[in-house]
Amino acid sequence: MDFFELKGGEMHAEGVALSAIARDVGTPAYIYSAATLRRHAQVFRQALAGLDQPPLVAFAVKANPNVAVLKLLGQEGLGADVVSVGEMRRALAAGIPADRIVFSGVGKTSDEMQAALAAGILQLNVESEGELRRLSAVASALGKTADIAIRVNPDVDARTLAKISTGKAENKFGVPLDRIEALYAEAAALPGIRPVGIAAHIGSQLFDLAPLEAAYVKLGELVSRLRAAGLTVTRVDLGGGLGIPYDPKLPPPPSPADYGAMVARVTKGWGVQLMFEPGRLIAGNAGVLLAEVITVKTGATKSFVVLDAAMNDLIRPTLYGVYHDIRAVRPRPGEMVATIVGPVCETGDMFAEDRAITPVHEGDLICLMTAGAYGATMASTYNSRPLVPEVLVDGDRHFVIRKRQTIEEMLELDRVPDWL
Ligand code: LLP
Repeated sequence: MDFFELKGGEMHAEGVALSAIARDVGTPAYIYSAATLRRHAQVFRQALAGLDQPPLVAFAVKANPNVAVLKLLGQEGLGADVVSVGEMRRALAAGIPADRIVFSGVGKTSDEMQAALAAGILQLNVESEGELRRLSAVASALGKTADIAIRVNPDVDARTLAKISTGKAENKFGVPLDRIEALYAEAAALPGIRPVGIAAHIGSQLFDLAPLEAAYVKLGELVSRLRAAGLTVTRVDLGGGLGIPYDPKLPPPPSPADYGAMVARVTKGWGVQLMFEPGRLIAGNAGVLLAEVITVKTGATKSFVVLDAAMNDLIRPTLYGVYHDIRAVRPRPGEMVATIVGPVCETGDMFAEDRAITPVHEGDLICLMTAGAYGATMASTYNSRPLVPEVLVDGDRHFVIRKRQTIEEMLELDRVPDWL
């Protein structure tokens, strides 16, 4: 459910016409709906209302790290799941309290560990023996104690795209299940470390609750085994991963309520605080990439709609071959079939192949839907195309929450040695 709707024949974000935003900031531009972000945060929290203890929902900052977006979600009571010092600084800058921040990621540097300990965040999720021992050394040197969870690799097939599956034995993430007990016991004995629990995240854009349930069942068994060994477990982080609808023609993914009911059933009696790290579910449908049609050209075998947005602005279709709905801002009657591309010099710079859309002409505005998660944050300046702005709409207001990068700003980072 989102708040991008046609009103009077024109697509609006809440109360603001997208053409008005295009006039204000130009195109391409990412547009986010505050009401949609709030609604998703509330729906997810409500779905978890039946748990034994109030959970911590930590938004996966990687999905949309804009400070204004994080501030809005922080006001909804969400914490932050971060994977770099940059993301941690963004969460803190957005006013998310340190005790709602969890630091995940398969390769934390010593500098990142120091920064996390200095900030006093809630927990670090440790992903290897080496990382645990180095964290112990870093924390001891600072005279601090790091609360940690150990990320488990539960060896479960999440049945999603291979590039975003993280819970199979051959994936780089987490510690194999059969080594957790020994590592947890070692953690409990190490200086500067207090193990508080375990974590798992098996993949993203999941359309099936069964693999999540299988992973959670394994975590539950592990909690019992750890406790039987005399170890203390007070938190379990169940990660993120719930899928969202990108293609309106496909059956929808499981709802947050279905997910919440499954979690409540599987985790009953665990006696821990649960944590969640949703990213896409919160932000995905809350954003669109607004673009202008530069030209419509007829090739030998296909018609092409060339947009001013490209793979550098939204890389998901190129990188994963995935579907984003494409809609005209002012739909014209009828239908055309076209291949929708950007101006970047690669054949892979393609948003959709042979897609039926309403007819578009040069100068028309279109939206690439469901671009609020893993959109702007994965953008690059490839082909020396400046990063595009981000705009937050709230009711009938809008605000530029990230300005368009200028070519001067892009050039400014380059240096030419005096021997050239
Ligand atoms: N927690 C951890 C440890 C993660 O690695 C991720 C995502 C999440 C939470 C959030 O997952 P979500 O709820 O958003 O599914 N760029 C890809 C997605 C990569 C996801 C990486 N990890 C895409 O555009 O589909």
